Amino acid sequence: MKHAVVILAAGKGTRMKSHLPKVLHPLLGRPMLAYVVEAAAKSGAERVVVVVGYGAEMVKTALADTPVTFVEQKEQLGTAHALLAAKEALSDFSGAVLVTSGDTPLLSAETLKRLAGALEAQGGGMALLALKLEDPFGYGRVVRDAQGQVARIVEEKDASPEERQIQEVNSGVYAFDPEVWTFLPRVKNDNRAGEYYLPDLVALYREAQKPVGMLVAEDKSELLGVNTRAQLAEVEGVLLARLRRQWMEAGVRMHLPETIYLEPTVELAPDVVLEPGVILTGQTRVGEGARIGAYSVIRDSELAPGAEVRPHSVLEGARLAEGAVAGPFARLRPGAELAKGAFVGNFVEVKKSRLGPGVKAGHLTYLGDAEVGTGTNVGAGVITANYDGENKHPTYIGKGAFIGSNSVLIAPVRIGDGAFVAGGSAINQDVPEGALAIARGRQRNIEGWAKRKKRYAKEQEVEE
Ligand code: UD1
Ligand code: CA
Repeated sequence: MKHAVVILAAGKGTRMKSHLPKVLHPLLGRPMLAYVVEAAAKSGAERVVVVVGYGAEMVKTALADTPVTFVEQKEQLGTAHALLAAKEALSDFSGAVLVTSGDTPLLSAETLKRLAGALEAQGGGMALLALKLEDPFGYGRVVRDAQGQVARIVEEKDASPEERQIQEVNSGVYAFDPEVWTFLPRVKNDNRAGEYYLPDLVALYREAQKPVGMLVAEDKSELLGVNTRAQLAEVEGVLLARLRRQWMEAGVRMHLPETIYLEPTVELAPDVVLEPGVILTGQTRVGEGARIGAYSVIRDSELAPGAEVRPHSVLEGARLAEGAVAGPFARLRPGAELAKGAFVGNFVEVKKSRLGPGVKAGHLTYLGDAEVGTGTNVGAGVITANYDGENKHPTYIGKGAFIGSNSVLIAPVRIGDGAFVAGGSAINQDVPEGALAIARGRQRNIEGWAKRKKRYAKEQEVEE
């Protein structure tokens, strides 16, 4: 039988204490809801309907490029009321209706399929997914009848002290036959919360003598609901652990893996080494045998095989060719490119600049809008002054050149191949190929000055 999936995601998520709708809180850089949509699509759903409410526009925008239909639940009167909001969108759909929540992001496509299969096998009615928890606090409890059949679900707030002892709980994932639309309007809100509870359908289906099946989930972690920040962190931890394991199985070496954070968009090759505290995000790709030093933060960057980032470096939109080295304490900003064997050392910032093969900029340098030719040495403290207060200008440095320490290259400017710039120069004119440029105050040595200074100081003392 075909199935549709309805994802309930209209609630604010009050306990998150946030302006951001709960389902948009990111897990490894992606909104929680995106995981649920992905599972629904992978389960083979013909249609995916998302019920939005709180922050509807934000939620729609965040998921604009996913193939879902949005429906709005203007007032959040409870989960049964939320499902009713999807009725019209599915009025022409005759298959099973699977329902899950936007705040259960670890649910797998397989589990959704299993539930749809169970509904079909029992010949309609409804099926719900339950789980057993040591600490069932906050969840709806499954109450069974004398025959051991599911009789009803009772929410935490409405449960008697005995019912609160029940460890079998509702996961909030269900499969219904299309008759659900006639049952739904019969749900009442006569409970402590004054809400229309979707789990009340269990009792209604039972009264109508319809089959009510229950699957008990094998993997509990799949059904962790996110209602608080602590649960959000817990779920993220589960996702991270899975991701790390996957990469380690693919040949990546992680030291203290539990300290490493990476997003699912990142790609790593075999023999990559990640030291403790590394953070890798966005479209980052790391080639075979590359090494990333402790506490480095790398976003949207590419490291070729054998490249190395030393500890405490920050990279964004950067590219390192084979054998290039950055850090410790390097800062590579968007458009920074290090060719084969180029080296950028501590406290060097590179933005929108290409450093040719074997270029060295070892210490305390800023290179912005620059191109540096093969084998050139950039001394400590060299700065490209690329900004005149209004516009950015380029600096070209040829190959095999030598830029003396603490020089400022005032752009636009061009340093020829093999040219030398004397330390401490302020260069605002082009330097021809092979020339030496000195642009600083000339040094003057005043003989005997120190002695004279001492004598003067003594005279002052006597007078006082
Ligand atoms: C719900 C179940 C509970 C189950 C638990 C599993 C109800 C009444 N209770 O409780 O039995 O054990 O899930 O995690 O269903 N939502 C709407 N509109 C509303 C209310 C809620 O769209 O009017 C959405 C929320 O955004 C959320 C989902 O429905 O994504 C679940 O709502 P939530 O308030 O988190 O229910 P729980 O208290 O967790
Ligand atoms: Ca919940």
